[in-house]
Amino acid sequence: MELRVKRGPRIEAEITVPGDKSISHRAVIIAALSNGACTLHGFLPSEDCMHTVNALRALGIQIEQPDPNVLIVHGKKRVLTPPKEEINCGNSGTTMRLLAGLLAGQTFESRLVGDASLSRRPMDRVIEPLRKMGADIVAEGPEQTPPLRIRGGSLRGIHHRSPVASAQVKSAVLLAGLFAKGKTTVDEPSASRNHTELMFNYFLVRTAKDGEDSISVFGDQVPESRDFNIPGDISSAAFWLAAAAAQPGGHLLIRHIGLNDTRTALLGVLVRMGAQVREAVEDVDQVEPRGIVEITGAALKGTVIQGKEIPQLIDELPVLAVAGALASGTTIIRQANELRVKETDRIAAIAHNLRSMGAQVIELNDGLEIHGPAPLHGARLASFGDHRIAMAFAMAGLFADGETVIQDADCVHASYPGFERALDEFMNPKRMRTSTPVIGSLVPAAPVEE
Ligand code: S3P
Repeated sequence: MELRVKRGPRIEAEITVPGDKSISHRAVIIAALSNGACTLHGFLPSEDCMHTVNALRALGIQIEQPDPNVLIVHGKKRVLTPPKEEINCGNSGTTMRLLAGLLAGQTFESRLVGDASLSRRPMDRVIEPLRKMGADIVAEGPEQTPPLRIRGGSLRGIHHRSPVASAQVKSAVLLAGLFAKGKTTVDEPSASRNHTELMFNYFLVRTAKDGEDSISVFGDQVPESRDFNIPGDISSAAFWLAAAAAQPGGHLLIRHIGLNDTRTALLGVLVRMGAQVREAVEDVDQVEPRGIVEITGAALKGTVIQGKEIPQLIDELPVLAVAGALASGTTIIRQANELRVKETDRIAAIAHNLRSMGAQVIELNDGLEIHGPAPLHGARLASFGDHRIAMAFAMAGLFADGETVIQDADCVHASYPGFERALDEFMNPKRMRTSTPVIGSLVPAAPVEE
């Protein structure tokens, strides 16, 4: 599939976005370990999350899906059965790393495989701590890359000091910790998203927090089955938020969105760049804060993004780089080396695509330096098979002269089913349908003047 993008009219819209990807993975995993049936509403039925669902089915968990966004997961008190064949994680790093933690606690052998992109991603970051806990894990690829062969067993709790701030590493070790003897602790260089620990608390699994960047779980616990409502994904909302922010006078309201403060750093950056943002938490009943975000656009100015902010907006950096190209002055992103080992090398992909559209970009080892504002022009761009690169550059296309074509854009379904439809509505507000993720109205207006 190709995405064809043209300059969009001024945004005046009220929308919702699909369920949170990170929370969807964790909700279905922890529900599967629980002691009964759990109904999950707002589940994200994207390719990545369906790989996790199908993996759990292959491990003997019954999961019904009466509606694309509703799952009924029949937890079996932590009992999993050996899979009949290898487990395919597709493009999903979260599936592979979290399952590695889960399977480290099982006495049977399993094999995790991924697509070409996932097969290049580093797994030593989970293999090393899981081995220390007592699991037998072999990476079959070069330099500790997938496939992974895992035979788990009786694990012991460890104190893991992770060299990277990664929620996937933290979650893999904490999930294994549920099957271990004693206490398992993970320290991070700075805090990554905390959905696993919040979800543990919600399912009444005892955890302890010893400091800002340290979390522990006590072994041998069975999660208590509960129903859960998954909020909208702020990382999917980020594309539209950045687009509205970069349009002087643009206005966007997003409802039912997750506002966990380990995920909202994007909003602070957009404020620094000059946008007006209102964030209102409406509900914290189910541990994950959710509410509305309202944004009013402006002529953006460049900013510096680095340090502790990076892990808290890691998935939003591609679209923030695009916003940087539209902003006046210099935008610097640094200490973002992790971008090099995502679905593609996102630093190289962003630099390449921004340059193809006429922006001035310097590629740094650990980030990017972008000199704006660039009069972007349409181009044929590669998605590099990476959903967030495809969507970030669709957003760039809304601000470019001429047509932008994103090739191989099926990858958007990894995290955002319905993205094409939503994009079409941002470009052609009159053709809006209520059956789409856009629930309000987009009022057509003159294109933004340069
Ligand atoms: C995720 C954590 C992040 C993020 C990914 C989802 C998760 O990866 O980039 O899209 O759900 O735990 P890292 O934890 O490896 O940084």
